[in-house]
Amino acid sequence: TDKPLVDTFGRLHDYLRISLTERCNLRCQYCMPAEGVVLSPQQELLSLPELGRLVTVFAGLGVRKIRLTGGEPLVRRDLEDIIATLTGIHGIQSVQMTTNGVTLARRLPRLQEAGLEGVNISLDTLQEAKFQFITRRKGLEKVVQSIERAVGLGLPHVKVNCVVMKGLNDDELLDFVQLTEKLPVHVRFIEYMPFSGNRWSFQKFLAYREMMGVVFGAWPELTKIEDAANDTAKSYKVPGFAGTIGFIASMTNHFCSSCNRLRITADGNLKVCLFGNAEVSLRDALRGGASDDDITELIAGAVSRKKRQHAGMFNLSKMKNRPMILIDSPPPSP
Ligand code: GTP
Ligand code: 5AD
Ligand code: SF4
Repeated sequence: TDKPLVDTFGRLHDYLRISLTERCNLRCQYCMPAEGVVLSPQQELLSLPELGRLVTVFAGLGVRKIRLTGGEPLVRRDLEDIIATLTGIHGIQSVQMTTNGVTLARRLPRLQEAGLEGVNISLDTLQEAKFQFITRRKGLEKVVQSIERAVGLGLPHVKVNCVVMKGLNDDELLDFVQLTEKLPVHVRFIEYMPFSGNRWSFQKFLAYREMMGVVFGAWPELTKIEDAANDTAKSYKVPGFAGTIGFIASMTNHFCSSCNRLRITADGNLKVCLFGNAEVSLRDALRGGASDDDITELIAGAVSRKKRQHAGMFNLSKMKNRPMILIDSPPPSP
C-alpha cells in the first residue's frame, strides 16, 4: 500500500463519506434551500465502476470505513450493488449509510445481505404535524418502523440523528431520551449548522451545553460513556435504558482536531472539509484517463492543503458554500 493520508496537522484520514445522489424524497428546511437546488445532469454523477475504482485507490491509501450519504442514498435503485461492490474491496472494513429512513424498512434485509453494517437515521421530531412541517413531506411512521426494523435485524450500528432547532423541536429532547428506554439505539442531538440557503439563525440555534442542561435536569443519573477515537458525539446513558444518547457539538465544540474524514460529492469532487469550498474533481481525472498514481497524487495534494479547522473560516454563518443537500445529507430535488 501507498503512504497513508496524513495532513500537516498529523490527522490520519481513514474515513470516506460518499454522496450517492443529490436527490431526496424529503425537503428538510435545514438541509435544502426553499427554492430547491439545481441538480447535476445524470452523466456528471459517478457511475458504479468509477466509484469502485476510486474506493480501491482510497483503500490503498488507508481508508477503512465508508459512509454512504446523499441526498437520500435510497433513491439509488442500485444501492444494494454499490454496497456489495464496496464491501468487497480489499481494506474496506465497514460500510454504513446515513438516510432519512422513509423507504428503508423493506430494503433492509437486502442491504444487510449486501454487507451494510449500520444506519444513521435522521429523525428530528416524533410528532406527525411537525414532521410534515420540517420535511415538507409525510413519513414519520415509516421512519419509526425503519428504526425498529434495523434494531430487529441486529444491525451492529443503529443511530438516530436529531438536529435540534430552538422553538421548533427543542421541546422534544426528553421524548427522544425516552425512546432509548426500550430501543437499543444511539440517539444523537445535533447542533444546527449554517449552510447556504438553510435559514440558519442564532435565534434557532441551541448549543449542546443547553441541551445537556435540559437532559440532566430530568435525568441527574445520566452517566458518561467512553467515546471512540473519532466520534463526532459525546455520549451518555441513562442507567437501565437499552440505548444511549449523544451530543454532536459541531459548532460550539468542534472536533476538527481529531477529524479523520474525507468526502466525495455525487458529482465526483473530493472535499477535505465539510465547510470548505476547496474541491478537486476526481471524476474529471478519471474520465481524462488518469492512472491510479495520478489519482493518488490528487488526493494526497488535497489532504496536504486541509486547514486546521472549519476550512479556515472564522464566521461560518457568513460563508457561501454548498447547501447540505449537495454535500451529505438526507433531503431533495426541485
Ligand atoms: P459516524 O461517526 O460514522 O456515525 O458518522 P457521523 O456521526 O459523522 O455521520 P452522520 O452522517 O450521521 O452525521 C451526523 C452529524 O455529524 C451531522 O449532522 C453533522 O452535524 C456532523 N458531522 C458529520 N461529519 C462532519 C464533519 O466532517 N464536520 C463537522 N463539523 N460535522 C460533521
Ligand atoms: N445542521 C446540522 N445537521 C444537519 N444535517 C443536515 N443539515 C444539517 C444542518 N444544517 C444532518 C442530517 C443528517 C446528517 C448527515 O446531517 O439530519 O442526519
Ligand atoms: Fe473536519 Fe472540517 Fe469537519 Fe472540522 S469542519 S471536523 S476539519 S471536516
